[in-house]
This record gives sequence, structure tokens and C-alpha cells, in this order.
Amino acid sequence: MSDKGVDKSKRRFLTAATTVVGAVGVGFVAVPFLASWKPSARARAAGAPVTVDISKLEPGQLIRVEWRGKPVWVLKRTDETLKDITTLDDAVRDPGSDESEQPADCKNEYRSIKEHVFLAVGICTHLGCSPTFRPEIAPADLGPEWKGGFFCPCHGSRFDLAGRVFKGVPAPLNLVIPPHRYIDSNTILVGEGGAA
Ligand code: FES
Repeated sequence: MSDKGVDKSKRRFLTAATTVVGAVGVGFVAVPFLASWKPSARARAAGAPVTVDISKLEPGQLIRVEWRGKPVWVLKRTDETLKDITTLDDAVRDPGSDESEQPADCKNEYRSIKEHVFLAVGICTHLGCSPTFRPEIAPADLGPEWKGGFFCPCHGSRFDLAGRVFKGVPAPLNLVIPPHRYIDSNTILVGEGGAA
């Protein structure tokens, strides 16, 4: 091997070493730059989607989660409830939810992706009180026609168990259905989804 050959291989090694150091240097500069552009943890939490585990939700049970500072209800409806909803079209103001707010994949008879699982933002569409879950059939204070639903104590608005507002009450629209999607059969992500 000649001296020339030795020099060449040394040069190759030096070139490779410089490239590696250069790449690491760029890495150290890039991390703080990117971090400064990310929203704060608090801002992320305020708008972030919320995961809901419904594996233990019993038929007839309602759980509450918070999304973007609002209450979101998740209700497991019974077969009986689904039947009752179909009998109320004439009693509610917007039976087809044409004027109301819901993701495209919830604009259907039951206002939900899966018939038995109902999600709604728990805020009255009148002046923003939170209605009460009243699943009983025909309780004395709500009358013999009541088949379960949500009652707003502030000014008496009534909604069925698809969040549809009854006629003759102050609330103008059905309860809002938040965007959501299923991650798997027992896990819902509230705040993302809504595709038709
Ligand atoms: S805020 Fe619900 S009826 Fe007025």
C-alpha cells in the first residue's frame, strides 16, 4: 500500500465524522425551535379530544364527561327507548334534525352513530342551562306522555332521548351532538370525527 492510499482513507474517515457531528448539531438547534411553536399544554388540553370508555355502561345509564369545558352526556339507550323515540316525531319540533347541529353521521332517526349509544352536549339550546336526565316513564311532574328524556329546570324545555326538543317549550333547537368517532367498539373519541 502506498502513502497516497493511506491519506485517502484518512480523508474519507474525517469527511464521515464531520457529517455526523453536523447532523447532531442541526438536531440540537431544531428541537427548541419546534417546541416554541407548539401550543402550551393548557391550550392543548382545552381543545383536545376526550376519550370515553363505554365498556361498563349499562343499558339506561348515562355518564358525563367534559369536552372543551362543556358537559357531554353519553347514554346507553335500551331497545324500549329506541322504540319510544320513533313514536315522538309529531311531538318534537325538528324531528329530522334539519335545523339542528350534529355531525353528518348522526343526522338520522336516532341522532347517533350506533343506535344504542347517544352522545349530546348537555347544554340547553335556549339560554344555556344544563338539563336534567329524567329517564322515568310518566313521572307525576312531567305528565303521562313523558317517555324519558331531558328536562331543563330553568324555563321548562323538554327533550326526548335523542335530544330532540318538544314543541311548545322555549328552546328552539335540538341538543347539539358533538363530533365523535369510535376508536374501537368500547372507546369513543369526543371532539374528532363526524364524517358522513
Ligand atoms: S335555559 Fe333551558 S329552558 Fe331556558
